[in-house]
Amino acid sequence: MANPKRHLVTCALPYANGPLHIGHIAGCFLPSDIYVRHLKQLGKDVLFVCGTDEHGVPITLKAKKEGVTPQDVVDKNYDIIKASLETWGIEFDNFSRTSRPIHHETAKDFFKTLYDKGVFAEETTEQFYDAEANQFLADRYIVGECPNCGFDNAYGDQCENCGRTLSPNELINPKSALTGNKPVKKETKNWFLPLDKLQDEFLNDWVATKKDVWKPHVYGQCMSWLNDGLKPRAMTRDLDWGVPVPIDGAEGKVMYVWFDAPIGYISATKEINEDWETWWKDPESELTHFLGKDNIVFHTIIFPAMLKSHGEFNLPQYVPANEFLNLEGQKLSTSRNHAVWLHEYLEDFPGKEDELRYVLTSIMPESKDSDFSWVDFQARVNNELVAILGNWINRVMVLTHKFCDGIVPSNNDQVDQSVIEEADALIAKVNSMVEEFKFRDGLSDLMNLARLGNKYLQDTAPWHAIKEDNGQQRVEQILNVSLRLASKFAESCGAFLPHTASKLKHMLNTNDAGLMAGKSVEKPTLLFAKIEDEEIQKQKEKLEAQSASNEPEKTFEPIKPTITFDDFSKLDLRVGTIVEATKVPKADKLLNLLVDIGLEKRTILSGIAEHFSPEDLVGKQAVVVTNLAPRKMRGVESNGMLLMAENLEGKLVFVAPVEGIEPGSIVR
Ligand code: MF3
Ligand code: ZN
Repeated sequence: MANPKRHLVTCALPYANGPLHIGHIAGCFLPSDIYVRHLKQLGKDVLFVCGTDEHGVPITLKAKKEGVTPQDVVDKNYDIIKASLETWGIEFDNFSRTSRPIHHETAKDFFKTLYDKGVFAEETTEQFYDAEANQFLADRYIVGECPNCGFDNAYGDQCENCGRTLSPNELINPKSALTGNKPVKKETKNWFLPLDKLQDEFLNDWVATKKDVWKPHVYGQCMSWLNDGLKPRAMTRDLDWGVPVPIDGAEGKVMYVWFDAPIGYISATKEINEDWETWWKDPESELTHFLGKDNIVFHTIIFPAMLKSHGEFNLPQYVPANEFLNLEGQKLSTSRNHAVWLHEYLEDFPGKEDELRYVLTSIMPESKDSDFSWVDFQARVNNELVAILGNWINRVMVLTHKFCDGIVPSNNDQVDQSVIEEADALIAKVNSMVEEFKFRDGLSDLMNLARLGNKYLQDTAPWHAIKEDNGQQRVEQILNVSLRLASKFAESCGAFLPHTASKLKHMLNTNDAGLMAGKSVEKPTLLFAKIEDEEIQKQKEKLEAQSASNEPEKTFEPIKPTITFDDFSKLDLRVGTIVEATKVPKADKLLNLLVDIGLEKRTILSGIAEHFSPEDLVGKQAVVVTNLAPRKMRGVESNGMLLMAENLEGKLVFVAPVEGIEPGSIVR
């Protein structure tokens, strides 16, 4: 929409199963907050909603682990999450919760409407069941290998490694997350959203209209689902934590968490706004969803399919999803505690909210994954915020006090207007970048405004100019222009650096009427302080300690029962040299090796394909068990076995002679 009457902006609801880390922030809280602040600054009618996602298996699993109720878990985390977002300066119009009655009612109404319209397909299917835990294994209750990328800890609903949505049936070697047991199948009735049908009816056409509207990676991910062909997806679950399914025959079932959670955007609107329908249904209201890349399918396919099936709702215009942020080169991980937690950052760096906003915006993973490191954090704060922005403002303020008694001087002849024009052009660029969701570029143009201010002072050098004829007048012109630039900066940095914006406006005294000649400015105070090496060192050590405490404990296998020397001498061990190595078709783990054991060359199949590539193996030596009974695998007979060591992380290492030795040499 070119110029919508109102903007409804949502930020993905974080699960209330733990506090927030910088990945959540860079993924959606920060970009949505910048976007909303920007629109509000322009005087637009905006509503910005979020809340905690309090259903779903991550929460019940956590409760189980801690021996408390799911409600305890979400109550505690709601408070932590809400407080840290507030302190940090993310300003929602409503930050709600999906466990509130208003949400349950809204979700039930929605479900009932789809049910009454005959949208759902009712189906009795066999679902995985953990007999020991006496429970169906939906979503994250079941883990296994991802069929798409091979990640070995994919969930029943999604692989967190490649982002692919899954159903439990697609997992390779599925296991119960509750007991580790191999699940059995048990019949149960569920209600499915017929995404296959909806794809033909409208999703294909609707998504096609987003080709140049959505970011390429968002559109691309969405298209790859459509190209694979959507399948019906169950919207109900046999679980006891969630929104009860409001129809006869569904007693004891709850809604799929991804059915109820996005409806949370609607209930959060309803909770604070009697006129909520205008925000959701009026064609002149524009809907924008901010989220991380693992949420793309839900916001570009499933929720739109729900909204469309309901019939009255607007569909999202923009879905500016971000990719992932890594930390010191590794995936952020809540379970491994490899994270910088927002509430801890705020304790360690009180008052430095904008520093983190600045750095996370500079490295925001807008179109590809990016990395946060503490050294880079320090460098960006010290070299950019302190050295460029802080230093410029400080010089302007100090000079105003020195040469103009702290009073804004006038510039009646409009001298150096071209600098002001240059600044306005930069600001226009910042604005359009934000509107295109290019926050990194927007921030860098904003910093160019500070660079322009610095350069202007450097070029005009008021400290020299004061000594020339008419020096005082010239200096007053320069400082008038400089103060106007600073005031423009204060106005336009509010979306990115809200705390800095208010400090600056206070310093310049521009809060009510803008900058005016003749008015006084405050005494200069520093906007930013340098981050010292020790502070960074402390953070790095903290992170290392966090991960170390989470390293799996080393467990050594017990020693096997004693054997006699005779037992041992039954083994025929010789050194072999690998002379050929090829992959075995359709076997992920096997390599077909031809091994020279001196008196002959043997074919040996070895399960090492995941550890070595064939070309690296030719020429390698290993100890071979040569009198092991032959075994047929994949139609090939294997005659022997290579000895390898497996380290504690499961990595294989050759146990070969240290120096090259003739093949066939006996090992004893
Ligand atoms: N809780 C989900 C997550 O953290 C996001 C839910 S977004 C909503 O991945 F659309 F469902 F609200
Ligand atoms: Zn995967």
